[in-house]
Amino acid sequence: MKYPGGKGKTFQHVINLMPPHRVYIETHLGGGAVLRHKRPAARSIAIDADARVIQRWTASASTLPEVELVHGRAEDFLSRHAFQGDELVYVDPPYHPDTRRQARVYRHDYERHDHEVLLGILAGLPCRVILSGYAHPLYDALLSGWRTTSFQAKTHTDVRTETLWFNFEPPTVLHDPRHRGDNFRDRQTNRRRFERLQDRVHAMDPTERAAFAQWLHTAYPGALSGAASPAP
Ligand SMILES: C[S@@+](CC[C@H](N)C(=O)[O-])C[C@H]1O[C@@H](n2cnc3c(N)ncnc32)[C@H](O)[C@@H]1O
Repeated sequence: MKYPGGKGKTFQHVINLMPPHRVYIETHLGGGAVLRHKRPAARSIAIDADARVIQRWTASASTLPEVELVHGRAEDFLSRHAFQGDELVYVDPPYHPDTRRQARVYRHDYERHDHEVLLGILAGLPCRVILSGYAHPLYDALLSGWRTTSFQAKTHTDVRTETLWFNFEPPTVLHDPRHRGDNFRDRQTNRRRFERLQDRVHAMDPTERAAFAQWLHTAYPGALSGAASPAP
C-alpha cells in the first residue's frame, strides 16, 4: 500500500522508539507502514478520516493482523477513548501547511488550526505518544517538555529532516527489537550478530544453557523491565 507521506522507508525509526505497550493506537492510518511492520500489540486500533482508506484496509483484511479499524477523525476518537495508561499512540497527521511542498495531497487535509487542536489533545493524553512531522515553531510551543529525535528521510523529490516528538524517556527495552539500527547496514549487522548469538545458545547442551540463563538473570536482573517506568 503506497501512500503519499507514507512511512514505507522510515517506519524503523518509529518502531525503534516504541516501549512495550498493550494497546497500540495509530490515529492517521493511510497506508499504515508502521502498523504493518511492528509486532502486533495485544490490541491494535487504527483510525482514518478517509472512508476510502478504511475500505482499502477492509478489503485487504486477510493480510491484516487483528486490527480494529475506525472511520472517523482522530481528534474525536482521542477525546472519547477511555485511556488506561498502557496505550501507545502513534500520530502521523498531514503535514503542516508551512512545511508542505505540495499543495493538497489528502482528501482530508489539515489547516493550521487543525494542527493546534490536535497538538492540544495530544499534550493532554495520559499515555505514551509518538508524533511524526517536520520541525515547526507551533510544535515546539505546544509540545514543550517533549523529547525529539530527527533523521534524514528521502521523499520522492529530495531528502528532508523528519522529526519524531515523544512524551517519554527513550526506552531501553523495545516493544519490537527486530528493526534495531539507524540504517540498512546497521540493521543488517545487528540482525546477523543477534542470530549468531542465538545459534550459540541453541547449540549449548541443556545444562550449559540453564547455567547461562541463570548467569544472565543474576548479572542483568532488570534487563527486561528497563522500560517499565510509569506512564506519564
Ligand atoms: C501522512 S498520512 C499517514 C501516512 C501513514 N503513516 C503511512 O505510513 O502511510 C495522513 C492520513 O491522515 C488522514 N487524516 C486526515 N485528517 C484526519 C483526521 N482528522 N483524523 C484521522 N485521519 C485523518 C488522511 O486521510 C491520511 O490517510
